[in-house]
Amino acid sequence: MPLFYQHNINESTRMAIWRIEEPEAFFLSRVPSHGSVTHPYKKLQHLAGRYALTAIFEDFPLEEIVIADTQKPFLPNDRYHFSISHSGNLAAVIASNRNRVGIDIELITGRIKVISEKFLGNKEKKYLNDLESVPQVQLELMTVYWSAKEAIFKWYGDGEIDFRKHLEITAVRHNGSNGTLDCVFRKNGGSTLTVHYHLVSGFVVAWVVT
Ligand SMILES: CC(C)(COP(=O)(O)OP(=O)(O)OC[C@H]1O[C@@H](n2cnc3c(N)ncnc32)[C@H](O)[C@@H]1OP(=O)(O)O)[C@@H](O)C(=O)NCCC(=O)NCCS
Repeated sequence: MPLFYQHNINESTRMAIWRIEEPEAFFLSRVPSHGSVTHPYKKLQHLAGRYALTAIFEDFPLEEIVIADTQKPFLPNDRYHFSISHSGNLAAVIASNRNRVGIDIELITGRIKVISEKFLGNKEKKYLNDLESVPQVQLELMTVYWSAKEAIFKWYGDGEIDFRKHLEITAVRHNGSNGTLDCVFRKNGGSTLTVHYHLVSGFVVAWVVT
């Protein structure tokens, strides 16, 4: 069963992770092909993401998806708000017929440290530096921070977010393989968003629902 994680967040909102094991033809039986993605594996990831939307909402109108100037895919009639992410052989999706949503999935790897200066503010860096005696926890949490900010970027959808300036993670609550973050969002007058995350098979998946 390729849908290996599913979470019904509330009455209107569902998320899921699809493990990609099928050939392109399987997804093309249901997903309209636009030919915009040409790299073979990227195409498979793209198709799997779209397909997974129909696995959480059977009536999801894939053929109505359009791409905004910002590159955010959306449905013009807002029947569903949705967000898609892929990493390696996993595709994560979230969709809602009421709430705005954003999702991101990332493989946990030391490569995140190379870009950490670009997305971590000073207080966030200090919090993570204080975890240097537990390097695996530090690495997981750094990936969670990145994934959470990417999920917010997608939730927002209008681009122009500076991850250091506009997004600051101020609290983390970890519980087993799950957790939540508070993130101050310094755009549109400012607000605090709650981001949920889940650690699974060496990946982080983070999502936001408002
Ligand atoms: C757009 C972006 C979020 C995609 O993330 P990614 O890790 O490259 O790829 P993911 O697999 O997680 O997500 C890709 C999906 O996001 C969606 N997407 C693309 N652009 C989007 C946007 N502007 N808003 C919302 N969703 C978007 C699409 O559904 C896409 O998949 P699809 O083309 O198969 O449908 C990322 O490239 C980006 O621009 N991030 C912001 C970077 C940034 O500003 N960094 C500053 C600090 S370093």
